[in-house]
Amino acid sequence: MEKISAIIANYKEVPGGLIEAFHAIQKEYSYIPEEALKEAAKAFNLPLSKVYGVATFYSYLSVKNRGKNIIRVCASAPCHIKGAAEVVAAVEKELGIKLGETTADGKFALEATECVGACQMTPVITINGKPFGDLTPEKVPAVLAQFK
Ligand code: FES
Repeated sequence: MEKISAIIANYKEVPGGLIEAFHAIQKEYSYIPEEALKEAAKAFNLPLSKVYGVATFYSYLSVKNRGKNIIRVCASAPCHIKGAAEVVAAVEKELGIKLGETTADGKFALEATECVGACQMTPVITINGKPFGDLTPEKVPAVLAQFK
């Protein structure tokens, strides 16, 4: 809780600080815990409902505890054409989960996303925001091994 308070305090006086604070909290915890929502409401002097609304509006923010490592698979057309579906199948097979699920040990969550701005290396996945491109199903185990 002290860490959450400290993170929020860093952004309290910054324009757009609430969203920046949520980014920083999510980077630390992989999601925005309920305590962070309450603390943000207090710090930014906003109703909890409004703070919750901001946290749930953006698809890249989550108030649900997902996996420690968030894998996002680009599902936009350029990646789709270059074999994103086969990459998803390889990730699903490697982790034993389906798109939208989290592994039982909480280590990985697998989500679809829109273009992540790395179209020069389609198909692309990101893990905790770091892009991995020019993927093939054969390359997936080695990429995931870096996070196990
Ligand atoms: S379409 Fe996949 S990174 Fe742009």
